[in-house]
Amino acid sequence: MRNTRVFFLVWGSSESLVQVIDLRIMMKCEITRDIQAAANLIQEGELVAFATETVYGLGANALNPEAVAQIFAVKQRPHFDPLIVHIYSTHQLAELTSEISSTAARLADVFWPGPLTLVLPKKKVVPDLVTSGLDSVAIRIPAHPVARKLLESTQLPIAAPSANKFGRLSPTCANDVAEQLGDEIKLILDGGPCTVGVESTVIQCVGDLPVLLRPGGISLEEIQDCVGEVRLAEIEDYAESNSPVSPGMLPKHYAPSTRLMIVDHPDQLPETGAIGVLSLFPLEVTEFRDCHFSAQQILSPTGDLKIAAANFFAALRKLDASGIDQIVALRLPEKGLGRTINNRLERAAAS
Ligand code: TXA
Ligand code: MG
Repeated sequence: MRNTRVFFLVWGSSESLVQVIDLRIMMKCEITRDIQAAANLIQEGELVAFATETVYGLGANALNPEAVAQIFAVKQRPHFDPLIVHIYSTHQLAELTSEISSTAARLADVFWPGPLTLVLPKKKVVPDLVTSGLDSVAIRIPAHPVARKLLESTQLPIAAPSANKFGRLSPTCANDVAEQLGDEIKLILDGGPCTVGVESTVIQCVGDLPVLLRPGGISLEEIQDCVGEVRLAEIEDYAESNSPVSPGMLPKHYAPSTRLMIVDHPDQLPETGAIGVLSLFPLEVTEFRDCHFSAQQILSPTGDLKIAAANFFAALRKLDASGIDQIVALRLPEKGLGRTINNRLERAAAS
């Protein structure tokens, strides 16, 4: 248990005008590697934040609507926004889904366990709250050993969105979770920093053609190499329809508190104000006017897009905490995980 000291000044009797009372407030949250403690809480209908290879998740028993309702409450997440259900093995698919197309089966075979989520026709056993009333359910088999042990120990499907307040930056280590949700949950199952660092790729496999709903930890190129043609969902598909939104597609998401703008070239960096720059490579500052950065985060000095993805949310967090007026991000190459990072940047920049 972590605790925090809070001091209250109280007007007292005539002898002691002011008394100082030291109240030790026990914060609810424990950061631990104890899988069994986490599994017990999930089985009791409580929430647990846990490590996955993409980002930390805020998990509950997916078959228990009251437990799932707490996820929405703690995240302040709108109910139109469906959750991903995490499972240990493909053997659990038959319980939750009514149909697995040959495309879905191929994707599952190649990319599970891993950062891929498949949206599949659902069975009635999956509560409407999990799927926001849709007749499909999003399923993922994570690769992180801590997530896998938790799923194995509970023997339950675990519904889990990223363990952050709705719309804010996703957590990639246990402390990130504690900062946003530490007062509201009992336990964070620590598995170290996330190695993929961006959320899973979400592919809808309900019709003939797979649809990329959210770019993520598996690149579009890898998906295309596996199954051929993939339709790319457009933001307009969601924004202009009355159907529940896939919120990875919401224009504003993954937002730091500091204003963020994206530029295509260092020439476009603003000339005034305290700016923090986010870029893939180190910038040759002298080449670009006499611009003085107050802060700078480099995602991968060698330009490796997977390393860039692993560093992305932590880098944004550091810039956000550095007291600057504005974060300026240089757009990454629109390929591989560069496409995923650009997608997150665009949503972080939307106002
Ligand atoms: O890597 C990840 O995917 C992480 C870890 C914890 O697994 N989870 C995560 O969950 O990013 P969340 O809730 O932040 O994002 C879930 C995405 C949303 O874009 C949601 O709209 C979409 O999946 N989704 C879930 N169920 C869906 C459904 N039935 N149809 C369409 N989209 C769905
Ligand atoms: Mg999220």
